[in-house]
Amino acid sequence: MLILKKTMFLLLNPTSFLSLLITIITLISSTASQPTYTYLFCSDPQNSTENANYDSNLSALLSSLSSKASLNSFYQDSSNGIYSLYLCRGDVSSDICQTCINNATKEIQRQCASNGTAIIWYDECMLRYSIKNFLGVYETFPRFLMWNIQNTTSPDVNNIDVNALIYPMIRDIPYKDIMYGTDKSPSHDGSPNTYAMVQCTRDINSSNCRSCLDDLREAAELCCQSKIGWRIGAPSCSLRYEEYEFYQPPSTPVPVPSPQGPEPVPVSGGNGGNNTAKIVIATVVSSLAVAVALLLFWTQY
Ligand SMILES: *[C@@H]1O[C@H](CO)[C@@H](O)[C@H](O)[C@H]1NC(C)=O
Ligand SMILES: *[C@@H]1O[C@H](CO)[C@@H](O)[C@H](O)[C@H]1NC(C)=O
Ligand SMILES: *[C@@H]1O[C@H](CO)[C@@H](O)[C@H](O)[C@H]1NC(C)=O
Ligand SMILES: *[C@@H]1O[C@H](CO)[C@@H](O)[C@H](O)[C@H]1NC(C)=O
Ligand SMILES: *[C@@H]1O[C@H](CO)[C@@H](O)[C@H](O)[C@H]1NC(C)=O
Ligand SMILES: *[C@@H]1O[C@H](CO)[C@@H](O)[C@H](O)[C@H]1NC(C)=O
Repeated sequence: MLILKKTMFLLLNPTSFLSLLITIITLISSTASQPTYTYLFCSDPQNSTENANYDSNLSALLSSLSSKASLNSFYQDSSNGIYSLYLCRGDVSSDICQTCINNATKEIQRQCASNGTAIIWYDECMLRYSIKNFLGVYETFPRFLMWNIQNTTSPDVNNIDVNALIYPMIRDIPYKDIMYGTDKSPSHDGSPNTYAMVQCTRDINSSNCRSCLDDLREAAELCCQSKIGWRIGAPSCSLRYEEYEFYQPPSTPVPVPSPQGPEPVPVSGGNGGNNTAKIVIATVVSSLAVAVALLLFWTQY
């Protein structure tokens, strides 16, 4: 509300409006180059006297992992008794994937120095490592939960629209090779479209992916049924639901695929500037509205 009032005021004052636009554009261009950090966990303190090589072993493994990110949206590796993997969201470009994993490998070492287990999440990717071999094992803890504080129009009623959208996704997407998918529900009776995304790390098999997503869906039902948007991230899978399109829509299949060809460049029309300004403001407002509540779970081993 405060933001809207401020915007209204600025709209009446051309000079301030210009400076607002410049601020927003600067904000967008700086956030576009950096991934959006979500959360991080560390555990299992390491005794660096006992294992003096741990830090350098970890650093070698993570930089080798990071070097794969321009070509692979998922990669797992292990060496010297440390296991690791990363996963980029199914719709992000290889450039964004690489940028995100570069940042993740640096941040996880900076914030979890000398920890035997760590996991970091961004909007665009996640990365984890451990001295315990977790590869192929599905894990739903630790997890984070985030929701929009805004209620749906009927918060006390079972949100059947969410289930109608998400159930079929959980049934089908684990059996796709990429274990990632998005879907959109139609608007009806004046309600907005809703959008959902599910993804699993590809070290686990399809039935484990499905179990993981079912666990998260149950958790979402408990916490967030009355909310207009929410997301849950766990080590092996993640689930997100919003009233706006937070992912790149899947590209329509091209008749002649050219795997080596350049990325398609969007063509902007004559009034592209206007559209950009509208999208920019919508993006800023919705990301402010989203990051409002965060709940974390950590199980004891
Ligand atoms: C991470 O490791 C450090 C150093 O061993 C330790 O002090 C810290 O408690 C660990 N953090 C967690 C969350 O286990
Ligand atoms: C680390 O290991 C050394 C050698 O085993 C031991 O003397 C020291 O107390 C340990 N330190 C911690 C914090 O556990
Ligand atoms: C990794 O650690 C082991 C001991 O745990 C050591 O023998 C080895 O040289 C280390 N490798 C690297 C690349 O640091
Ligand atoms: C990683 O990205 C964050 C923004 O999400 C930025 O503040 C930080 O400086 C970056 N870290 C590195 C090491 O590039
Ligand atoms: C959302 O709905 C719940 C249940 O009806 C209510 O307790 C809560 O105060 C509402 N929250 C907001 C922000 O409107
Ligand atoms: C999936 O992996 C689990 C072990 O994590 C195994 O018990 C199960 O049989 C596997 N399912 C299939 C269909 O391969």
